[in-house]
Amino acid sequence: MKKDFIAISDFSSEELMSILELAIDLKKQWHDGGNPPLLKGKVLGMIFQKPSLRTRVSFDMAMRHLGGDALYLSPNEIGLGQRESIADVARVLSGYVQVLMARVFSHDHILELARWSSIPVINGLSDYNHPCQAMADALTIIERLGKMKDINVVFIGDGNNVAVSMMHICAKLGANFTHSGPDGYQIDASALALGRTIAAGTNTKIRQIFNPQEAVRDADVIYTDTWTSMGQEVESEKRAKVFPPYQVNTELLKLAKPSAIVLHCLPAHRGQEITDEVADGEQSALFQQAHNRLHAQKAILVNLFQQANS
Ligand code: CP
Ligand code: NVA
Repeated sequence: MKKDFIAISDFSSEELMSILELAIDLKKQWHDGGNPPLLKGKVLGMIFQKPSLRTRVSFDMAMRHLGGDALYLSPNEIGLGQRESIADVARVLSGYVQVLMARVFSHDHILELARWSSIPVINGLSDYNHPCQAMADALTIIERLGKMKDINVVFIGDGNNVAVSMMHICAKLGANFTHSGPDGYQIDASALALGRTIAAGTNTKIRQIFNPQEAVRDADVIYTDTWTSMGQEVESEKRAKVFPPYQVNTELLKLAKPSAIVLHCLPAHRGQEITDEVADGEQSALFQQAHNRLHAQKAILVNLFQQANS
């Protein structure tokens, strides 16, 4: 049966771990000489309503490494929901390609694509969440710290799409999650409630703490992201006034565990949410994390086709 990859919360802890284990195997195999053509004859259609470096290139390369191909469809070409209805785009593309990935503004647009497609749909970021990023993040944490279970992940800054998926994967995989951001920029209430329900089942904690110095105490992972996400540009001046106390800098990092690592999904705004010193410092895992998008997404793709054939 067709399965989509729309949200971390749609998957069980076991399913997420098995995709991550597959990512570890595919990464090793790639570094040992290459992957077998598991996706030979498959084409991924990539719909982008917003810009991208990592998502676009890593999905394209993932398909090529696995013997398949990818097709980039720009906002101007598709005009999703404007030139043509989402339902019609989904039904037309389902006859041309074997899997779809879309980066959209409204999360409802991803749900609508999935509803009308007869092929698997992958969420390449919406205003609500960024599940592919969270898979690469978990892979990076496992590589650097050996586990997700019983660690403390602290997200500093805007309670945005990246924070939502990170919170949900932490709760699913047994990590405690803390968000620290200015008043008015907390994680969406329904995403938080869902996170707390998942966390209750795995005996983990989700906390919101305004004071960033207090929040990072005992942190194993400090995560940050832009203060202004794509689509919020008109607010950037207003945000730039309230976010500076939430900059991830050397002083803040010193308050976490000495073994703590720093994550950022990128693109980074150096000098705003993160300093050069931290981004390029010994505790930074930023580029390993970016490179892991390739391996995590290979596993997501292979898993979706396995599900479709089962
Ligand atoms: N982290 C991430 O999704 O990067 P891009 O916006 O460049 O794809
Ligand atoms: N929160 C950011 C993530 C970019 C990958 C945005 O949505 O712009």
